[in-house]
Amino acid sequence: MKTWPLTRINLDFRSDDLTTNDRVASEVSPQRIAKALRTGTCPADSAFDRFLSDELRVVSAQYWTPLAVAMRAAEWLDDLNIHTVVDIGSGAGKFCVAAALAGHCYFTGLEQRPRLVSAARELARLFEVGDRVSFLEGALGETPVPDADAYYLFNPFGENIFGAEDHLDEEVELSFDRYERDITTVRDLLRRAPAGTHVLTYNGFGGNPPAVYQEIRVDRGLPNVLRMWKKTAT
Ligand SMILES: C[S@@+](CC[C@H](N)C(=O)[O-])C[C@H]1O[C@@H](n2cnc3c(N)ncnc32)[C@H](O)[C@@H]1O
Repeated sequence: MKTWPLTRINLDFRSDDLTTNDRVASEVSPQRIAKALRTGTCPADSAFDRFLSDELRVVSAQYWTPLAVAMRAAEWLDDLNIHTVVDIGSGAGKFCVAAALAGHCYFTGLEQRPRLVSAARELARLFEVGDRVSFLEGALGETPVPDADAYYLFNPFGENIFGAEDHLDEEVELSFDRYERDITTVRDLLRRAPAGTHVLTYNGFGGNPPAVYQEIRVDRGLPNVLRMWKKTAT
């Protein structure tokens, strides 16, 4: 298995650099971040997050996939010749966009909050990955999930059991009932998926994939654990 080191380079900058030093500002362009990701170098998350609105940037560390995780996922997906990936609960689109830059898959994000879908579409446009990244507005269980070679879940339902101070907003139902319902829906989806389907989880999804999924990769060196499973039988 090809495993390149996730070298961290500092593309971070202070906001005053924007006004006092045009050179620095222009260096941290989407194109430069994209080039780093494409060539196996991991930019600082803050450099990428600068292209999110203030409101979405401040929650990035808690809610959006770190770049190092997206890079590792992209590496595994390419290594296994996986072509299509659905991010269940795609938020501001950081995983789909960063993993598309770091690899070769086609990504579809499913997201329940319309304002996040709009932000994700804008991020894909800015990073020029619109040909391989798209977003569907809708909730799991209500909107059909497209078929895919692999599904990605970054603890999407955890917010249901967080305290109100950790909610992104109160625009959607957040409850323990919903938490259990969404986990069951994912497990049903995975049970119906064809043999050979892969699942990637970052910090889990609140349950385990059905027993016919075998864990094939794990990376414990990231801020949270990234795991990959493969469905071995129908
Ligand atoms: C932890 S964030 C992960 C975002 C993105 N996958 C990433 O890694 O950058 C989880 C997202 O899942 C969304 N979500 C949670 N439950 C959902 C559901 N049932 N249907 C659609 N989206 C959901 C939330 O609105 C939130 O944006």
